[in-house]
Amino acid sequence: MVVTFWGRPRRRTPGAWLHQCGSVEEALRAQAAGADGVIVQGVEAGGHVRGATPALRLLGQARAALGPEYPLLLAGGIAERSDVSTALEAGAQAAVAGTRFLLSEESRAHALYKERLLAARETFLTELFGAGWPAPHRVVPNAATDHWLSGVRPLFPVRGRKDERQMVFGAPRANRLLNHLFAPGIRYAPASLQQRMIGAQRPGSRILTPAGPTDDGPATLVDAGALYAGETVARIDTVRPAAELVRDLAG
Ligand SMILES: Cc1cc2nc3c(=O)[nH]c(=O)nc-3n(C[C@H](O)[C@H](O)[C@H](O)COP(=O)(O)O)c2cc1C
Repeated sequence: MVVTFWGRPRRRTPGAWLHQCGSVEEALRAQAAGADGVIVQGVEAGGHVRGATPALRLLGQARAALGPEYPLLLAGGIAERSDVSTALEAGAQAAVAGTRFLLSEESRAHALYKERLLAARETFLTELFGAGWPAPHRVVPNAATDHWLSGVRPLFPVRGRKDERQMVFGAPRANRLLNHLFAPGIRYAPASLQQRMIGAQRPGSRILTPAGPTDDGPATLVDAGALYAGETVARIDTVRPAAELVRDLAG
């Protein structure tokens, strides 16, 4: 099974293929491109976020547009068995969880990153950590967001219908401009250079890469990097074995 997350939906495998989408338009494009199903991602999801619509609402819209039989999976807001039941009752064939598994024993997130998430109660969307990849992402606050986003007006042009616009923190104009300007250069830079940039990243750096803190990377990223997490982080207060999580979520 291949899952594609970004860019123009395009089949890259003769096997099963799912595409993650943040809007009905994008889901229709994936269906037309031959995807075997789509993951509808709600705006409450952690990490890189496609759209601006809450997951259950987007699921309903996608079901109406893509037909009663087409496989739809729901991502965003799944942390407990009751979330899965709600998604299935609303017409999803399956539920997808990211943040819950970030807080599993097997996850390669840095131990200090996990600690921050266990303590976190609040998330927001930003484009701050967008060097090379200027796309909205949901994170919990840290020293870098405190440094760059205090005083930034909470107005962020997330894609979606006007009435679904979210009032969220963007990033200072100059940071966003640099993220866009340097996007191709940074994305295709040699891995050694990217590693040097990541190692040198500090909360006050104007160029902030999308690298998250991993257990084999620098601990400095806990304050200087993106602490990706979805809204469910407010309800998660344990790091547990992944198998146990799967058993609980599947009921
Ligand atoms: C640490 C982390 C990193 C992520 N990175 C990406 C990414 O690079 N691209 C993407 O399309 N989605 C990314 N996501 C979003 C997931 O694909 C998924 O939609 C999301 O985790 C589901 O919401 P949840 O976190 O509330 O479970 C990421 C999520 C997390 C938690």
